[in-house]
Amino acid sequence: MITGREKEQKKLKDLYESGKAEFVAVYGRRRVGKTYLIDEVFNSEITFRHAGLSPISIDTENASKKNHMKEQLRHFHHSLMMQGMEENTPPESWLDAFYMLERFLMEKDDKKRRLLIFLDEIQWMDTPKSGFMTGLEAFWNSWACCRHNVMLVVCGSSTSWIMTEVFMAGLHVRSNFSRLICMNVNSSLFRRDCHYPVMTLHKHI
Ligand SMILES: Nc1ncnc2c1ncn2[C@@H]1O[C@H](COP(=O)(O)OP(=O)(O)OP(=O)(O)O)[C@@H](O)[C@H]1O
Ligand SMILES: [Mg+2]
Repeated sequence: MITGREKEQKKLKDLYESGKAEFVAVYGRRRVGKTYLIDEVFNSEITFRHAGLSPISIDTENASKKNHMKEQLRHFHHSLMMQGMEENTPPESWLDAFYMLERFLMEKDDKKRRLLIFLDEIQWMDTPKSGFMTGLEAFWNSWACCRHNVMLVVCGSSTSWIMTEVFMAGLHVRSNFSRLICMNVNSSLFRRDCHYPVMTLHKHI
């Protein structure tokens, strides 16, 4: 059972009920409770969830960067199939992969409930020259942002990745977000009455 984090839980629930497309980024150091928070708040509401493979999980000694991308794509494809997508050919690019995700979500859309997408460990999905950001941007700008029932939650332990790709150079600048929320988990802040670090709302646009 979740302890604390009342403010963050409420914020996430309010966004879920906003009736608008929402893009939420949760970032912070390892093991501070990012994934746990999302799971506890949304649990059965998640329509599609996926976690990027960390480089040490990729069992390719001397693997080229292209292989890393291939493994991430295969893993994403497996997640789609495990969660109900019919068997089909694996995507060759992130544009294809996000197109598959769009089709998957359209099939799941009953026009009543949120389509909630949770991409965890997102920094590992963005392998060098893989075109991941292009795919994600196309997904958000061309498909998701104009659908009032879509909520995209991305989570990562690499603050620099989120700040660089989402805020400074990437999505935040080029996209027409309805909203972007970043929550910063600062593990140097401890509340006296609990053992876990305090998560602070960092930015709300
Ligand atoms: N608010 C909380 N209440 C109770 N337990 C918690 C809370 N936050 C985290 N935990 C515990 O800490 C563990 C680690 O949390 P979690 O896996 O969510 O961290 P994380 O920030 O996602 O780490 P990583 O960056 O490695 O993915 C959880 O499995 C859970 O047992
Ligand atoms: Mg996690």
